Amino acid sequence: MGFLITFEGPDGSGKSTQIKRLYERLQTQGYDAYLTREPGGTAISEEIRGLLHDLNHREMAPRAEILLYSAARAQLVQQVIRPHLAAGGIVLCDRYYDSTLAYQGYGHGLDLDTLRRITEFATEGLRPDLTLLLDLDAAAGLARRQTGGVEWNRLDDYALAFHQRVRAGYLALAAAEPQRWVTFDALQDKAELAAGIQQLVLARLAQLPAAALTQPQSA
Ligand code: TYD
Repeated sequence: MGFLITFEGPDGSGKSTQIKRLYERLQTQGYDAYLTREPGGTAISEEIRGLLHDLNHREMAPRAEILLYSAARAQLVQQVIRPHLAAGGIVLCDRYYDSTLAYQGYGHGLDLDTLRRITEFATEGLRPDLTLLLDLDAAAGLARRQTGGVEWNRLDDYALAFHQRVRAGYLALAAAEPQRWVTFDALQDKAELAAGIQQLVLARLAQLPAAALTQPQSA
């Protein structure tokens, strides 16, 4: 039941803008869509986000970081995502467990199988139906963030090399599960990117059996 779409990409890839545009389009089409983000999306998860992004917490150990992301995720899945999917809704999530695999796994070099087990526990095995990767070169992503007026956070302090590993990680994840992932060039014109994403998602939704989703109000 329902349909879970996640957006992934390096920092500065424009995910948040694009997911919002998709959300608005789905609503216009009459779909029951819900937009959320990671880490965050519930009161508890937003508090954990505050801890993770606090510039005073530079000493945070990578294992502590994983468990905090996973705790925020577990709460979001149980409190928000599963109930919406169970009601036949579409959930759009700005980042999900692939961010943990890309950042903590490929980025920090933590064991991917261990991360997958932690993730499986946190989400009770809830996988996205579709994952959109907004891909761009790590240097371009960091440059965009710095000039975009976005608040600099603790995570942005990591070296460029880290972001390059993250990007390579995303590409590897996408290549390993091509039926779930669709990769877009994040540097293309914003309106064209939005149109491409909307076209893809609307086509996928149209293929679903009628019972999978609350049908659009206009249908
Ligand atoms: P955020 O301010 O949401 O940035 P963005 O707009 O790039 O999504 O910060 C999220 C940061 O947290 C981002 O640098 C990626 C990182 N992150 C992880 O390292 N692991 C995770 O599991 C998640 C969900 C995010």
